[in-house]
Amino acid sequence: MGRDRFPLKLLLVGFGNVGRELARILVHRTDYPGLADLDVSVVGITTGRHKSLANEDGIDLARALQELDEHGRFTPGNPDYAELDSVKAAETLDYDVLVEMSPLSIENRGEPATRHVRTALGRGRHVISCNKGPLAFAFREIRTLADQKGVAFLHETTVMDGSPVFDMARSCMRGNTILRIDGILNSTSNYVLCAMEKGKTFAEGVAGAQAEQIAEADPSNDLDGWDASVKIVALANVLMGADLRPHDVDRESMAGITPDRVKAARERGNRIKVVCSAWRENNTVKASVKASEVPLEHPFALVDATGSIVRFETDLLGKILMTEENPDITTTAYGVITDLYALDGGDR
Ligand SMILES: NC(=O)c1ccc[n+]([C@@H]2O[C@H](COP(=O)([O-])OP(=O)(O)OC[C@H]3O[C@@H](n4cnc5c(N)ncnc54)[C@H](OP(=O)(O)O)[C@@H]3O)[C@@H](O)[C@H]2O)c1
Repeated sequence: MGRDRFPLKLLLVGFGNVGRELARILVHRTDYPGLADLDVSVVGITTGRHKSLANEDGIDLARALQELDEHGRFTPGNPDYAELDSVKAAETLDYDVLVEMSPLSIENRGEPATRHVRTALGRGRHVISCNKGPLAFAFREIRTLADQKGVAFLHETTVMDGSPVFDMARSCMRGNTILRIDGILNSTSNYVLCAMEKGKTFAEGVAGAQAEQIAEADPSNDLDGWDASVKIVALANVLMGADLRPHDVDRESMAGITPDRVKAARERGNRIKVVCSAWRENNTVKASVKASEVPLEHPFALVDATGSIVRFETDLLGKILMTEENPDITTTAYGVITDLYALDGGDR
C-alpha cells in the first residue's frame, strides 16, 4: 500500500449521517485530545440531491453543517458552493483521499459507489469506503487497481462500524489462514429478535427499530438478510480470498420468524440469532445468512439489540472473537478516522 502523510486533503462523497458526524468531529476535534495530530482538510463534499461544495483551501465545515440544518441543502450563498456531481468531483478535484459515503445499492450492484472508487484509484488517489458495495461487487478488480497504482483502499467502517475487524485480521493475525468466519452483523434484525423475546410482535419490533433510527424507513434490506449477506461477502472477499457476490449467499429472510418460534427457542434454552457465516469447502468459499438457534451460554447469545460480534476460526491462532456493544454514529465515523491514521505512514 502507498503511504502518505498528514496533512491529507479529503473529498467526501455523500454527506448523510456518517459524513456529517465525521464533519462534526473534525469541527470539534479539540474536544478529543487523541485527535490532536489528525491533520486533514476537506476540499470537496458531494451529495445526491443536496448540492455540493468545493474549496481547495478547505471547506468551512461548521458553516456546511449549519447550512444543512437551516436550509436542508447547500446554497449558492455559501462561498464554497459548487455545481459538481460526485463523478465530476472524483475526476477533477485535487484531493489525496476520496471518502465514499453514498448509500449502498444492491439493485445497482454497488454503483455508483464503485465508479467513484475506481475513478479515484485510477487517478492514484487513496480511497476510504464506508460503502460495502465496492467490496461485495468488485473487490478483486478494485484491489488490483489500488495495487497497480500504489495507493490504499481501506474500508474499516463497512463491517461493525469503527471496530477494527479488518485491521485486527490484517495486522494482528498475519500468517494465519482464516478457515471460517461467523458473526451477528445486522443491528435491525437482532433488535427485532430481542423485541420479540420481550413479547413484541415482529411489526412492533420493526417499528421500535425505526423509532430509534436503527432501521431505515424501508427496512427490507435488513430483514431480508441482504445487509448481512453483503457484510459476510465483504469479509470473505477481503479476508478469505473469496470472489463472492451477495446473490451467491444462501440467504434466509427473517419474514418466517414468529414470536412463537422465538419463545419456543427460549424454552429449549436457546436464542434465535441471524448468523452470517463463510467457510472453506472444496477449494472455494461458501457463505450463508441463517436464523439459527444458539445456546444461551454461547457468546453469540450475549449479543443484544444493536450489538455485533464476529468470530474468526484460524489455522494457527484458533478462534478469535470481537464484539461491539451499542455502536452509534460516532463509532461509525471513527471507522473513517482509523483509516486516515492508517494512511498517515501506517505500517500496512
Ligand atoms: N449509518 C451507519 O451507521 C453506517 C454504518 C456503517 C456503514 N455505513 C455506510 O456508510 C454509507 C453512508 O451511510 P449514511 O448513514 O451516512 O447514509 P445516508 O445518511 O443515507 O447518507 C447518504 C449520503 O449520500 C448521498 N448520496 C446519494 N447518492 C449520491 C451520489 N450519487 N453521490 C454522492 N452522494 C450521494 C446522499 O445525498 P442526498 O441525501 O442528497 O441524496 C447523502 O448525503 C452507506 O454506504 C452506509 O451503508 C453506514
